[in-house]
Amino acid sequence: MSRLFRLMVSAMDNSKLLQNIQDSFIGRDTVYPLAGGGSSPRRYLDSAATTLMMQPAFRVAQDFLAHYASTHSELHYAARGAGHAYEWAHERVLEFVGAPGDEYCAYFTGCGATAGFNRIAAEFAAKRPERNVVIVSEMEHHSNDLPHRKHSAEVVHIPLMGEAPAYGGLDIDVVGEIVEKYGERINYLALTGASNVTGSLTPIHQLARLAHSVGAYLVIDASQMIAHAPVVMKDPAQGDADIDVLVFSGHKIYAPGSPGVVIAKRELLAEMAPAEVGGGMVDDVYLDKFIPSLILPDREEAGTPNIVGAITLGAALEVLIRIGMDNIRLKEIKLIDLVWKKLSAIEGVNLYGPAPSVVPRTGTIAFNIQGFDHGLTAAALNDYYNIEVRNGCFCAHPYVREILKPELWALDIDPDAPNSEAEVERKRGMTRASFGIYTTEADVLALVEAVADLVARKDEILAIYEPEGSNGYRHREFEPDNAALFNPVTSLERALGNYP
Ligand SMILES: Cc1ncc(COP(=O)(O)O)c(C=O)c1O
Repeated sequence: MSRLFRLMVSAMDNSKLLQNIQDSFIGRDTVYPLAGGGSSPRRYLDSAATTLMMQPAFRVAQDFLAHYASTHSELHYAARGAGHAYEWAHERVLEFVGAPGDEYCAYFTGCGATAGFNRIAAEFAAKRPERNVVIVSEMEHHSNDLPHRKHSAEVVHIPLMGEAPAYGGLDIDVVGEIVEKYGERINYLALTGASNVTGSLTPIHQLARLAHSVGAYLVIDASQMIAHAPVVMKDPAQGDADIDVLVFSGHKIYAPGSPGVVIAKRELLAEMAPAEVGGGMVDDVYLDKFIPSLILPDREEAGTPNIVGAITLGAALEVLIRIGMDNIRLKEIKLIDLVWKKLSAIEGVNLYGPAPSVVPRTGTIAFNIQGFDHGLTAAALNDYYNIEVRNGCFCAHPYVREILKPELWALDIDPDAPNSEAEVERKRGMTRASFGIYTTEADVLALVEAVADLVARKDEILAIYEPEGSNGYRHREFEPDNAALFNPVTSLERALGNYP
């Protein structure tokens, strides 16, 4: 068989796997009641918050439970299997992000990326106290901003490209100027791979080159990038512009319940004292001293790990490796272009962040309907169309405020006013639709149609909802049947029915 033929067959297999996997997600079609009567399967467009569970990955975790045991022992069968599977999960992570195992180590931490940033910020600050500046951007999630503020003397926020409402995306020249200005005072740059508000992607290897030019490290927050675009931490095509540290949450890449992940250069980890101490990370303990293990990642993973979650994540990553992240990106680009074009064409809708033709994006689209508060749009999309989106400032308050400034000024609202009243909170935010591998063209078109419908029904919708709390809205007449929503007690009763 010629190489070209084999490549064609493999591309066909991959696209078939992609198609089949799309339909495998647990809970994708869960049915909820509609305010207009009846019910329908939901359309889950909240993947930037967390993703649905990939069925084959869940299946691997279930199979593992039949062999469940803790790691760190070779002497009973189940523990041996658990240890090997846990190691397999680490290897899948390294493969997924293109990080050779002899140079990089992956370790699991906490329940999301937040734990990883806190750990890296504390460790890097202790390692190089003479370099007391950290550079972040204005579009960071709080989790990749506040830990650096806590541990570093100075945090500098890079301004973004363009102007509101199209504000977003890193201008590499501006980053270069800031790097030159602070020079060897910079310990590291901690930058998002993709914004969780506007999906704007950042050129991570160019940033690595700039960071290394002054001896700084580059830490990438890949939480919003990891499920949407290929990542290669050590890319031979990029020369020495490798990424020093990359952090992401397993729950954002189709493995709910899995841990956060840090992938870092071994040489960096080896120089650092373990951040947490306890079982599993020591070689020996005496009453007056202890000897931390030199083995990575053990040294970084004190305590009994989240083995089931890690294995679920390893399995999800393996499936994505087989599909190919390039294929996933291509599919998503089509959806992004479609939704951007269609939503831009609706009079009365504000879209935020740079257009995908200006700055490449992930499938994360922030918008508002003019005359509606963000909470009202999210509530009505849920109640009338079963479309699940998120609203508010998405833990990226400085970025959202910056984009909304002209709109808020027009309403005579000071976007920077601290401790705003509920009335202001209701105006200061956006609605966000975000895609996953399971998002289809039909989902995207349903969103567009629903937004157009809401614009057309503006007066009716405004009259039938009332504000609730600081950013919520409640339908005055429609009360969903609680039996349709998840309830752990009912679920447990049903499960116990099998054990009378
Ligand atoms: C860009 C970004 N960084 C960090 C985080 C924090 O992730 P976690 O809450 O899983 O720790 C999020 C979560 O939404 C995010 O979108």
